Amino acid sequence: MPKSLISIQDFTKDEILHVLETAKEFEANRFPNILSDKVIACLFFEPSTRTRCSFEAAVNRLGARVIGWPDNRNTSQSKGETFEDTIKIISNYADMIVMRHPTEGAAAIAASVASVPVINAGDGANQHPTQTLLDMYTILQTQGRLDSLTINMVGDLRYGRTVHSLSEAMADFKPHFVFTSPEELKMPKKYLDYLDSKGVAYEQTSRMEDHLDDCDILYMTRVQQERFPSKEDYDKVKDTYRLTASMLGGVKPNLKILHPLPRITEIAQDVDETPYAYYFQQARNGMFVRMAVISYLFGIR
Ligand code: CP
Repeated sequence: MPKSLISIQDFTKDEILHVLETAKEFEANRFPNILSDKVIACLFFEPSTRTRCSFEAAVNRLGARVIGWPDNRNTSQSKGETFEDTIKIISNYADMIVMRHPTEGAAAIAASVASVPVINAGDGANQHPTQTLLDMYTILQTQGRLDSLTINMVGDLRYGRTVHSLSEAMADFKPHFVFTSPEELKMPKKYLDYLDSKGVAYEQTSRMEDHLDDCDILYMTRVQQERFPSKEDYDKVKDTYRLTASMLGGVKPNLKILHPLPRITEIAQDVDETPYAYYFQQARNGMFVRMAVISYLFGIR
């Protein structure tokens, strides 16, 4: 089976560091044109702006070509074709599949039937490993290190796949985590158990103001409306947190505020003008990191 990236745990710590180093090279050389004999399928079964466009930009900058779709309603799945058949067919046409899907585990199923590498571009509330790699790249870029940082994750820790992948990956770098969420959206037990097994320190709170002043990274997240069982459940928690510039008076000078985006109301626009906001640069970094992941899985770098 070709090497795929389905969960961040598919990469060792050394592989993660290698990808981050390669991404830095691609940031310096943005059009390396090293994959001109490759075709890459970008299959999006769920909406996306950043992940799809940055993957397609990465493919183009590497010199490869893109096929695929931004919305599967126009594919033969609408006629009843199975997901597995769809993936087998696309494996005939492309050298790699990048896939987003609303169902947890869909990327793993795709990898089990595909004859080419599969990259998980987000599967339900489960994992988003390339987001994690770009988050780590951004943390390294802004803090100068990955080790021994205090990372405060705020918002929807239950359904937010980016915080699941990121907490697992950062566990190897001696972090101190703060998990800030309402009771209904706490970090799932399986991720806390994983951190316990690695001896990682963390605390949980529902009050955002508790740890604004002592963190290095404030990782804000959107409440994931599309994953809630009912609108009433979503309405109860959707406006729990709203970060404004006036709340940042006592923060550490090195603080950077990250967000996988899109944001809704959890970060006020006046935060954008502060020296702590870094979410737009973070999104830009996704292109370089995805170039690095694609070339690594092809064994080119
Ligand atoms: N961060 C992220 O996955 O954004 P999109 O949903 O726009 O791809």
